[in-house]
Amino acid sequence: MTTLADTWGINEAQFWLRGVRPDHPVEHDEATGIWNVYGYPEVLAALSDPSTFSSNTQRLVPETSPQFSEGNLVQMDPPEHNKLRKLVSHAFTPKVVADLEPRIAELTNELLDAVHDRTELVADLAYPLPVIVIAELLGVPSSDRGLFKKWVDAMFDSSNQFSLKERSKEQEEYFAKAMEQVQQLTDYLVEHARERRRQPREDLLSKLVLAEVDGARLSDNEVANFGMVLLIAGHITTTMLLGNTVLCLDAHPEQYAKIRADRSLVPSAIEESLRFFSPFAAVSRSTTRDVELGGRTIPADQLVLCWVAAANRDPRQFTDPDVFDITRDPNPQIGFGRGIHFCLGAPLARLEGRVALNILLERFPNLRTDPAEAPEFLPSPAMTGVKRLPLLL
Ligand code: HEM
Repeated sequence: MTTLADTWGINEAQFWLRGVRPDHPVEHDEATGIWNVYGYPEVLAALSDPSTFSSNTQRLVPETSPQFSEGNLVQMDPPEHNKLRKLVSHAFTPKVVADLEPRIAELTNELLDAVHDRTELVADLAYPLPVIVIAELLGVPSSDRGLFKKWVDAMFDSSNQFSLKERSKEQEEYFAKAMEQVQQLTDYLVEHARERRRQPREDLLSKLVLAEVDGARLSDNEVANFGMVLLIAGHITTTMLLGNTVLCLDAHPEQYAKIRADRSLVPSAIEESLRFFSPFAAVSRSTTRDVELGGRTIPADQLVLCWVAAANRDPRQFTDPDVFDITRDPNPQIGFGRGIHFCLGAPLARLEGRVALNILLERFPNLRTDPAEAPEFLPSPAMTGVKRLPLLL
C-alpha cells in the first residue's frame, strides 16, 4: 500500500509513518551502536526515569565541545536541571505566553497580507512567524532571522542516521559544519548577552543575565547556550507543526470539511497533527546503569533514542494509529516529550498553531495543495516536517 509518507518521499528510516511496526519496542542497532525505543509504554518509562536515562548525551559523543552544554537545559540532569528550569519558567509563565496572542495574530495577518493567489507556506508564514515571536521574546533583532535560518538549516540538513560507529567522510564533514554553525550562533548570542548585562531591557535575555541560581549569576556562555536552545527549539519545530497540520488536513478532505464547519476542533486538530507527524521525532538519553526496558537489558553508558514519533503510532496506546482523526479523544500524544524535560514551549507552540490555523481557515476558504508542485520534507530522520509547502489560495 502506498502511504502518504511514500507519496511525499519522507525519509525511509521513519518506517512507522508507513504503517510498519517495529519487530520489538526496544532494539539495538548494530550498525550505529544506538539503542532505539519505539514503544509508547517503553518511551514513557525511559522519560520518567532521569536518573537511569540521563539527558547528558554529550558525554558519549566526544566531538561536541563541553562549552555548548553549559546552560543547555536539554542536556542537564537534576539537580542542576531543576534550578535552571525553575528560573526560566518564571520568564515563561502562562501569562507571558497568553499575552502574546494579539501579537501572534497581528504578525500572522501581516505575513499573509503579502501573499496573493499562491503561497509557499513555510517561507511565507510557518518559518517567519515562530522565529519572529521567539526573537522578540529573547530580545534579538527579528530582522536577523535570515542569519538564524542559515545557521540552523546547516545543523539539520542531513538525511544520515547519526552513528556512534565509524563515520563516512560525508558525515564527518556534516558534523564539522554543524559545529561551526553552532559556534557562530553562540558568538552572536554572547554578544547580545554582554550588551544586556551592560544595559538591561525588558526582554528574556536581560532576565536571564540578571537571574540568579543559588546566589550565582549565569555566565554569558550559559545565557547564550540557553538562548540558542530557545531559538532553535522555539522555531523549527513550530514551523513543522504549522506546515504539517495544513498538509494533513489537505490530505484528508473529510477532516478538512469537519474543521471548516466547526472551528472548535482547531486545538484537537493540532494535537492530532503532533501525534500523526511528530515534528521532533526522537529525544536522546544516555544510560547511567544497566537497565531492563521492554524485555531487553540496555547496558550502562549507551546512547538511547526515544522515538516519540513511533510511540505516537503504537497500537497498544492508540486505536487505529495510522488514521488521522482530528476528533480523537483522549489523545495522549507525546510529541512534546514527557517528564521533567517536557517541552517548555508547548503552550507557545500550541498558541501559535491555534492562532495561525484559525486565521488561515478564515482568510482562505479554498486553501489547498498545488497539484503542480509537491511538498518537500526535511531530510533528517529525527525530524518529521515540511520544508516546502506550495499552496493555492
Ligand atoms: C523540550 C518538542 C516548541 C522550547 C522539548 C522536548 C520535545 C519538544 C520533544 C523534550 C526534549 C527531551 O525530553 O529531551 C517540541 C515541539 C514543538 C516545540 C514538537 C513545536 C511543535 C517549542 C517552543 C519552545 C521550546 C516554541 C520555546 C519557545 C523547549 C525547551 C525544551 C524543550 C527549552 C527543554 C526543556 C527541558 O529540558 O527542561 N520540546 N517543542 N519548544 N522545548 Fe520544545
